[in-house]
Amino acid sequence: MVFYVLTLFPEMVLQPLKFSVLGKAMENGVFRVEAINIRDFAFDRHKTTDDYPYGGGQGMIMKPEPVTRAIKFLLEQDPKIWFILLTPQGITFSQSSARRLSKFKKLALVCGRYEGIDERVKGYVNEEISIGDYVLTGGEFAALVIIDCVVRLLPSALHRAESAQEESFSEDLLEYPQYTRPPFFEGKKVPEVLLSGNHREIEKWRRREALFRTWVRRPDLLKRARLREEDRRYLLALENGS
Ligand code: 6GU
Repeated sequence: MVFYVLTLFPEMVLQPLKFSVLGKAMENGVFRVEAINIRDFAFDRHKTTDDYPYGGGQGMIMKPEPVTRAIKFLLEQDPKIWFILLTPQGITFSQSSARRLSKFKKLALVCGRYEGIDERVKGYVNEEISIGDYVLTGGEFAALVIIDCVVRLLPSALHRAESAQEESFSEDLLEYPQYTRPPFFEGKKVPEVLLSGNHREIEKWRRREALFRTWVRRPDLLKRARLREEDRRYLLALENGS
């Protein structure tokens, strides 16, 4: 998969992708990132990319010409590229957005700056995405969030088909508690069942822990989670205080 990131700060997106799982996936050719510097498409002598807002107000607005010229440059290479504008006004990104976007061969992420981008640029993109209800100084970190979420869904040698399947069953639940060695740490013991070697009991315990945590912390998620009959019985018992 190829990600084109249109930004005024290419290094801000390229450097963080060099590490750990993403760095490995990139080395293995699972994905590639091409940063397009919007400033390279500015046409005046000073390479201006922003200007004062019409009607007055705080901050600077991204001019439409450089960014739309960058978009047209990419579309000439491949008209199938899917363009996403990153803006706090967009539709909120979620795991299901990540799954949908992972099906594209080529995605272009257009990073706006937080004060705003000229409204007329919006006619050049396929959709607008926000990563949540808070305001970032620019779209670069949002682009990184999206790339990270999408890349970990891409098929690779490390990613077994069954683990994706498993995940789809639990993706709307919070994760169950995890432990590793040592068995005692600062007076706290690892739950006995995890040391039992009984895989059925372990699965059952994990499922209940995941349901319990979700019920306490994120009951909103339970409405859309894929639940088995046994899960419903357990939740009903929690509701009834037993
Ligand atoms: Cl995509 N951009 C900015 N600037 N702020 C955000 C955002 C995007 N998503 C949430 N906050």
